[in-house]
Amino acid sequence: MRFKKNIAAFVAVLFAQIVYAERSITIQSPDQNIQLGIMHRDNGDVIYRVLYKGKTVIAPSGLGFKLNVPALSLVKFNLLSADSSATDENWKPVWGEQSVIRNNYKQLVLQLADHSGSGIKLNIVFRVFNDGVGFRYEFPQQEKLNHFVVGEELTQFAMAGDHKAFWIPGDFDTNEYGYYTTSLTAIDATGGGKAQEIHAKTFFDKNATQTPLMMKSADGLYINIHEAALVNYPALNLVMDKSSLIFNAHLVPDATGNKAYLQTPAKTPWRTIIVSNKAGNILTSRLILNLNEPSVIKDESWIKPQKFVGVWWEMHVGKSSWDYSGSQVGSQQATKVPHGANTANVKRYIDFAAKHGFQGVLVEGWNTGWEDWFGQWKEDVFDFVTPYPDFDVKELSAYAKEKGVKIIMHHETSASVTNYERWMDTAYRFMNNNGYNSVKTGYVGRIIPRGEHHDGQWMVRHYERVAKKTSDYKIMVDMHESVRLTGLHRTYPNWIASEAARGNEFNAWSVGNMPDHETILPFTRIMGGPMDYTPGIFKIKMSYYNAEKKEQVHTTLAKQLALYVTMYSPLQMAADLPENYEAKPDALQFIKDVAVDWDETRVPDAEPGDYIIMARKAKGSPNWFLGAITDENARNLVSSLDFLDAGKKYVATIYRDADNADWSTNPEAYVIEKFLVDSKTLLKLKLAPGGGTAVSLMPASTAELKSVKKYK
Ligand code: NOJ
Ligand code: CA
Repeated sequence: MRFKKNIAAFVAVLFAQIVYAERSITIQSPDQNIQLGIMHRDNGDVIYRVLYKGKTVIAPSGLGFKLNVPALSLVKFNLLSADSSATDENWKPVWGEQSVIRNNYKQLVLQLADHSGSGIKLNIVFRVFNDGVGFRYEFPQQEKLNHFVVGEELTQFAMAGDHKAFWIPGDFDTNEYGYYTTSLTAIDATGGGKAQEIHAKTFFDKNATQTPLMMKSADGLYINIHEAALVNYPALNLVMDKSSLIFNAHLVPDATGNKAYLQTPAKTPWRTIIVSNKAGNILTSRLILNLNEPSVIKDESWIKPQKFVGVWWEMHVGKSSWDYSGSQVGSQQATKVPHGANTANVKRYIDFAAKHGFQGVLVEGWNTGWEDWFGQWKEDVFDFVTPYPDFDVKELSAYAKEKGVKIIMHHETSASVTNYERWMDTAYRFMNNNGYNSVKTGYVGRIIPRGEHHDGQWMVRHYERVAKKTSDYKIMVDMHESVRLTGLHRTYPNWIASEAARGNEFNAWSVGNMPDHETILPFTRIMGGPMDYTPGIFKIKMSYYNAEKKEQVHTTLAKQLALYVTMYSPLQMAADLPENYEAKPDALQFIKDVAVDWDETRVPDAEPGDYIIMARKAKGSPNWFLGAITDENARNLVSSLDFLDAGKKYVATIYRDADNADWSTNPEAYVIEKFLVDSKTLLKLKLAPGGGTAVSLMPASTAELKSVKKYK
């Protein structure tokens, strides 16, 4: 029997730690901390479980499918073979949180056949890394299965305890929720219904959450569940069965309730389980990227991490409007305001960008259609090539070129996606002809074709098509209201960021983002890839713009600076208005200095929902940047600087909360100090409620060695 022979060879040649008992296989991570166990029961069930240093991460959990066409429950199997291999390699991302990534895992491929005798075959591929486990289903090309329709994926994740969880409600259309922190048995996603500020949401089950889902067990394990390489398949939601503590997969349906239309050979995305006894190791895991395919783009020289400003926040705070009529579509305000994307105003932003070294200027509301944008579920709202009469495309392109700045295109599709698909080539040619090399897309509203969802298979295919097509035109893309990321930016590095979570913008016009929000996002949404969070707000209270407004950013100014380090993205916006930056040039200096592409990333300390300290080394530079943030609680933290070159002195420029700062009562009070530090320094961080500290660390010049005082 092939199975036995392979396993024998497997044990003898590859890893001594693999044990074959009767239909039970154990495979360990290269460092032996993680154990994946597979059981094939007499009744045909195939069960998996995961241990970390002997503690249960995933208790015995089921695998399989319900197919709608052919109608078949694919949950009992004959085990045909089990093949193993090991991989250990390094690769270099085009941009990222570190310049070299190690991909080191043990792999097990199970070949299974349907137990009921249909003749249908299914493989399950497991990879066990030092930081977790990934597995995916593969339907090989086969006689008995060609075109087929998935009714549900029956993957389970059984939890070993009533863990603390950081979750957002399961939803087919939006991920722009604030986070809930509860035990698993206290998950109640009906609360999602309260989020009135989200325009298109589709609630389906009060026990449902989205991934990436972050958990902490009572015995100190940090567990993250998500998916990698979401291609041609719907996104995953997890529904908690509170009696058994089992999460059941719930894929996003299409308009008819089907989940996925596939043809053999077909592969599902990887299901990922990242685990550690240190929270920081979750943040430095590259497992999701490692499970994605290498870049398909041959010449990557045109892909450039960058910082940008934009005619954007002024619309969100109600100073100007996207629509030409000035009626602030979507804002429920009656007062008329100027149209933001006018030639003179755009020039002002270009001047500001050129003066301060920002590479891009985003301009929203430049094209006709915004009068019809919001809430209409209407076709053909935008054409992506017709400017409003006060936006001079040629003049602005020439002006930007002369100033060495790129205008960032904006394509709000209003979720009329069939329409966008019709316009894509024309729109990207228009961009090529006018010197634009990046586009921010957006999908506000309910999807057309009607009945499809933002996170279903149809849209997942659309986002990938956009990534591919923009790359054909050498265009970088930043998608808002897209499906959450799953590491596909490894394959399409021109897909430089997404929003796909609740961004800073919610602070301008809604109840906003609670002070713990940014301490959770890196453990959840950003696990899948970079987020266009749009940090850098200096004017914290919206009453500055309109005395009646109660809205505000729920952080201090110093925390806004720290977010450039803690919220990873190769595309970072300096989101506030030029005049607000020019009023505080000393604080602006950090945003000008901070890098967006990195050689190394360290997490001196972190706890999801509480605080994060992160340090990163700028790519190809000796400079380091450190960001520390806290939730609503003031904190005194200490960070080691042991990542600095030993024996070398650095100037630490510390941008911190003033002693009396507080996100709600005194958010804009900050202090900037300079000290000489080295790798032995223990940096004391005093964070205000909702506060943060940002630090730049640059090698000291001879003059600075004399003039800058030593850190005590
Ligand atoms: C929502 C996006 O997140 C935001 O950045 C954009 O300004 C508006 N839609 C308008 O497209
Ligand atoms: Ca959004």
